[in-house]
Amino acid sequence: MRTIYAFLLGIIMVFAIGCEKEKKVSNQLEYNIEELLSKMTLEEKIGQLNLRGTSSRAKTLSEELKQKVREGKVGALLNVMNKEYVDELQRIAVEESPNKIPLIFSRDVIHGFKTIFPIPLGMAASWDEEVAKNSSRVAAIEASSFGIRWTFAPMLDIAKDARWGRIAESPGEDPYLASQLARAYVEGFQGDSLSDPTSLIACAKHFIGYGAAIGGRDYNTAIISKEQLHNTYLPPFESAFKAGAQTVMTSFNEVNGIPASGDKELLTNILRKRLKFDGFVVSDWNSVTEMVAHGYAEDEKQAAEKAIDAGLNMEMTSKSYEDNAKELLKENKLSINQIDNMVRDILRVKFRMGLFKTPYRNKNKDVEIYSSKHLELAKEAAIKSSVLLKNENNVLPLNKKTKVLIVGPLANKPREQLGTWTFDGDKEHTVTPVASFEKNNANFEFIEGLTYSRDTNKKYFKEVLTKASNADVVLFIGGEEAILSGEAHSRANINLPGAQEELIKELAKIKKPVILIIMAGRPITLQNIKSKVDVILMTWHPGTMGGDAIYDILFGIKEPKGRLPITWPKVAGQLPLYYNHKNTGRPASSKEYVHIDSIPIGAWQSSLGNTSHYLDVGYEPEYPFGFGLGYTSFEYSNLKLSTTSLTDDNNIIASIDITNTGERAGEELVQLYIQDVAGNITRPVKELKGYKRISLKSKEKQKVTFEITVDDLKYYNNELKYGVEKGKFNIWIGANSASKVKEKFVYE
Ligand code: NOJ
Repeated sequence: MRTIYAFLLGIIMVFAIGCEKEKKVSNQLEYNIEELLSKMTLEEKIGQLNLRGTSSRAKTLSEELKQKVREGKVGALLNVMNKEYVDELQRIAVEESPNKIPLIFSRDVIHGFKTIFPIPLGMAASWDEEVAKNSSRVAAIEASSFGIRWTFAPMLDIAKDARWGRIAESPGEDPYLASQLARAYVEGFQGDSLSDPTSLIACAKHFIGYGAAIGGRDYNTAIISKEQLHNTYLPPFESAFKAGAQTVMTSFNEVNGIPASGDKELLTNILRKRLKFDGFVVSDWNSVTEMVAHGYAEDEKQAAEKAIDAGLNMEMTSKSYEDNAKELLKENKLSINQIDNMVRDILRVKFRMGLFKTPYRNKNKDVEIYSSKHLELAKEAAIKSSVLLKNENNVLPLNKKTKVLIVGPLANKPREQLGTWTFDGDKEHTVTPVASFEKNNANFEFIEGLTYSRDTNKKYFKEVLTKASNADVVLFIGGEEAILSGEAHSRANINLPGAQEELIKELAKIKKPVILIIMAGRPITLQNIKSKVDVILMTWHPGTMGGDAIYDILFGIKEPKGRLPITWPKVAGQLPLYYNHKNTGRPASSKEYVHIDSIPIGAWQSSLGNTSHYLDVGYEPEYPFGFGLGYTSFEYSNLKLSTTSLTDDNNIIASIDITNTGERAGEELVQLYIQDVAGNITRPVKELKGYKRISLKSKEKQKVTFEITVDDLKYYNNELKYGVEKGKFNIWIGANSASKVKEKFVYE
């Protein structure tokens, strides 16, 4: 007994000492901040709130900028890409400025710096936190060697509308998956310690609702109910903050009439008080002064007042704080306490980054850009992100002897396959599919057919068709050039642009198997061509190693492992489309659905099946959320719950048997969905609550289990209370969100 007491006492003491230590560190940190703050002039304080933009292509270092830094009027810099300029500006800051406060150098390092990984939507298709974490660690190591210590990533905007160009940068439509990835990205960027010279501080963006832009038009208004905000849009941010993300960026858009950059409820009550965020908030590019165009501020001065009052610490590129803060203080529209608080948050992060001790960039000679390890990780990510959507007659994998005709505008476009937000990846290091076929001495011929994705010139069609008739299979690599997705690049039609569809239709007439590889920043509508091709492989914009990844998948060296992180629409008119929608009082059903062509002429109004669907395309997507094929097949059977009654102290273990029924070993991503049948507010038809990846040999069977706890069922109700009500629940375990393998339980 005594030993047990001694042991417990020991544990308590260790814990108490640990807490005390933490307190001391934090007290010391706060002390350092106060000490520094007490020495700073008002100009310097306002300077810390200034994130100054520069051009990464600048050929000289401007005297004006140097002088500003010398006077302590800049807190951070954006896009300084010349290492010597970085060193010189930091030297001026820490040697010549009044209080020697170091600068933070920032850049959009979104899905890789030099070694480019698949676009974030592709990374989300990997459903693999390890892959996500590796990608951001590699990006941090490479970027920090250029002096960058702050990246504007991860982008955590839930996106349900593929017309929106920035869906390419998003983690997709699901808050659970996005939250897992958010944590992984932050851990990768920030590394083991913020003061490690290879650590980049992460910036969770865009806070908030940017992905809910009406009509998928970039920058557009968002209307989001409080309940949706808390249940759908905030969770990935919460996860990023829990993982320690040091900064957050406000979004360009307004939500329910208030632009995010001036939203006090959002930036103070939700962010600081509820989510306990203690880093700093940065605006998006000019998003403070854009509040004038929004009609939320009469002029830039009022915009600055509203943003500071809301709790926005650092203004990116526009200068409304710099120009107006002093006057706003004089007029008592703002208090010095508010300014001090803004500065405290920024200094806190600078101290945590160790910049006062190690202000200069990581000059460690060992940092190898494009190292073989980095390239290997990028290739693995591209394989894990690629989603096989169709593989009729098992055309894939190909046999090495197969004579392949490679066609298409993206088959050999090193720049395009890197995708959006890749300023630094060099195309010379990029492996295209054609380069990989060459390197591997594959049996192939290549003709582009169309020179870029929007090309409508059919002059090469004849030659393409002649070559196609001499080949065993046709490999069409098309999609969207990088510039067709990303910021401000929304599209109303999201099919393959240019004459790609026409060329595919012509190729189909030759009666050789046609493999379609899509490199794009969003799902592409396939209605005109789906039946014309045998294989559809979505690789997104796969990054530096895309070609090698594709080669390995095509020839079965590796299996495509991606699963859709978004619902794939049949036509753009279905958007926004997402699996975790509400049911309506008249849910769509195959029994009631009447296709537009089967409506009798002069039909009576009420004969049309009054449910929630489109007359022309029905209610189903092209492919459901979570969908993706491999090179084998799996059967799900025997779904069992350890109990059908969940209580606060009795969890449910749900188990299912999965058998590899195919001839090859393979991996399966087993997904768990739950529906709260009735709630204090209506609940989604189902929600992702877990996933597990398993590997099975041919004919092998494995039991997969998930533990369901009360926490998995909690949500924000109409009074914004987080909890769960007693009642009925449905549960599905399957290969995607359309799985029909279902059980029930109650929470009592
Ligand atoms: C505007 C974009 O919205 C944001 O995501 C990006 O980080 C900034 N520009 C800085 O380039």
